Amino acid sequence: MKILVTGGAGFIGSHTLVELFGAGHRPVVVDNLCNSSAKSLERVARIAGVPQVPFYRCDIRNREALEAVFAQEDHFDACIHFAGLKAVGESVEKPWEYYDNNIGGTLVLLDVMRQHGCKNIIFSSSATVYGDPQQIPITESCPKGHCTNPYGQTKSMLEEILTDMRRADSQWNVVLLRYFNPIGAHPSGLIGENPNDIPNNLMPYITQVAIGKRPELGVFGNDYPTPDGTGVRDYIHVVDLARGHVAALAAIERQCGLAVYNLGTGRGYSVLEVVKAFEETTGRKIPYSIKPRRAGDIATCYSDPSKAAAELGWRAEKGIEEMCRDSWRWQSQNPEGY
Ligand code: NAD
Ligand code: WQD
Repeated sequence: MKILVTGGAGFIGSHTLVELFGAGHRPVVVDNLCNSSAKSLERVARIAGVPQVPFYRCDIRNREALEAVFAQEDHFDACIHFAGLKAVGESVEKPWEYYDNNIGGTLVLLDVMRQHGCKNIIFSSSATVYGDPQQIPITESCPKGHCTNPYGQTKSMLEEILTDMRRADSQWNVVLLRYFNPIGAHPSGLIGENPNDIPNNLMPYITQVAIGKRPELGVFGNDYPTPDGTGVRDYIHVVDLARGHVAALAAIERQCGLAVYNLGTGRGYSVLEVVKAFEETTGRKIPYSIKPRRAGDIATCYSDPSKAAAELGWRAEKGIEEMCRDSWRWQSQNPEGY
């Protein structure tokens, strides 16, 4: 299929491009590079063995520019929509920017898509829409919860907008993929997560401590109701996550209508378990100290991934050791990122 990949230069997008090429699809990237580098696309081309990745530097809020991409490319069979801002803390400081970019950008995209007869979309949603989940493991039928930050609100609202679009027009096929905690990197070490500033997320923080950029990890709270008191999450290897998008294209091909899937492993690890796994697989010591809880954090979050297994034939295959090893390979081969 010919696929528009918004945000394709980013962390999850770049890994998904590799899997799309591998499965024989034809991706075309639109990205404004506000949180990424075009170098990721050169690296994707190297891994995939293609001359280059078709790429338009374009903001999805820019209707004229997006129209021009659709006109130039003739048609798209589907869109995988990654483009968006994703830093939880920043979204609290800059709510307007998050609503404008994530909601405004998606509204323009959907309008241009339908005007060009492309009504198939896979959307990057997040486990954050469950809020403090009512059940563990979390199934897709678990009610959505209260999101404590504008970033999470945009994901929840966009799920509603896409659901309403499909309800009003049965030609749409909409797949909402709720990612758990993506970490790891491509095993080549050529592409990976490239945070601009001090990392917000656990694994990039750990790898920066391992390489000596930061003195120690702060563990945000050890008094949660979990086995060792630290927060438990469902970490998923980004290559497994990327393959979930290829599997979701098959759902679109069989005209799934509206479909919602958790993409996780179904297994939770605490912060201290991740630190231990990282130390054991890489031989690097990660000094840490216990800090107060981080505002908005929950104790435990992990998925029931059985719906994606039953309906998409997709399962996460890579374990925590591989996630740690690949995150470290990326960091150590690219200490300054791209
Ligand atoms: P990322 O920041 O690496 O990638 C997002 C890409 O979108 C970047 O390349 C950025 O330049 C681009 N972009 C942002 N706004 C744009 C705009 N207006 N027009 C064009 N391009 C724009 O983030 P990621 O981790 O790869 O996440 C991809 C998607 O998955 C995001 O929608 C994110 O919210 C979602 N998600 C991520 C996680 C995670 O932990 N990484 C978890 C759940 C959901
Ligand atoms: C994991 C665990 C922290 C950093 C976030 C977003 C979510 C989704 C994925 C986009 C928690 C602890 C972390 C550190 C720590 N993103 N931690 N020290 O918070 O589960 O999810 O990213 O959709 O929406 O909220 O991920 O990696 O930040 O934290 O102790 O320096 O590690 O408290 O228990 P989180 P995370």
